[in-house]
Amino acid sequence: MKTTISPSILNCNIAHLREELEKIADADVAHVDVMDNHFVPNLSWGLPVAEAVVKQGILPVDAHLMIEDPDRWAPGYAEIGCHSVTFHAEAAAAPLRLARELHRLGAKAGLALRPATDIAPFVDILSEFDMILVMTVEPGFGGQEFIESMMGKVRRTREAINAAGLEVSVQVDGGVSRKTIEMAAEAGADNFVAGSAIFRAENAYEEIAALRQLAQQHVH
Ligand code: DX5
Ligand code: ZN
Repeated sequence: MKTTISPSILNCNIAHLREELEKIADADVAHVDVMDNHFVPNLSWGLPVAEAVVKQGILPVDAHLMIEDPDRWAPGYAEIGCHSVTFHAEAAAAPLRLARELHRLGAKAGLALRPATDIAPFVDILSEFDMILVMTVEPGFGGQEFIESMMGKVRRTREAINAAGLEVSVQVDGGVSRKTIEMAAEAGADNFVAGSAIFRAENAYEEIAALRQLAQQHVH
């Protein structure tokens, strides 16, 4: 599969949105973290900021909704032109219906799993999604430490996708850096979200290139 590098703009300087997006223009998508202070103990931003990122037209937007009631809110992110919309399995009342609604609105659909949520209950509906997001930190904050014990879930997810003959991406999010990206790629991830590793780097372009190169050695 193609290696996808998805910088998270959670900790960028939002007052200089365009410049911050230009720093990551050679990545594949811009990962926009939406938090509602209910599903996670933190508040970030919502539709207007996601729409501002879409309108800059620099990168396709990958929205990660860490919110309650995604059944109500997620379609709006497809309507404003997000390339992909990922909602949490723990929060959705009807994940399959929501995935179909996102597809109908022209977006790709992603299903996210918190660290303590297993992939097993979703194996039979993998074909309804374009991406499975295996969280490698508890969602809510950037700059946390990568949870290595999630690699078993990444592996099982990739195996289930391959066994079903599907082309579904496996995304990892949280604590992804030069130190951890190879482990995730080796376990079967092909899409890598990195926030602090990229925005705290001296040179974001170089960091993206380095992450891509490390991951590509393991993504097949
Ligand atoms: C965490 C967010 C992540 C986060 C990644 O809840 O979903 O996208 O911003 O940041 P780092 O790479 O710093 O862990
Ligand atoms: Zn995220």
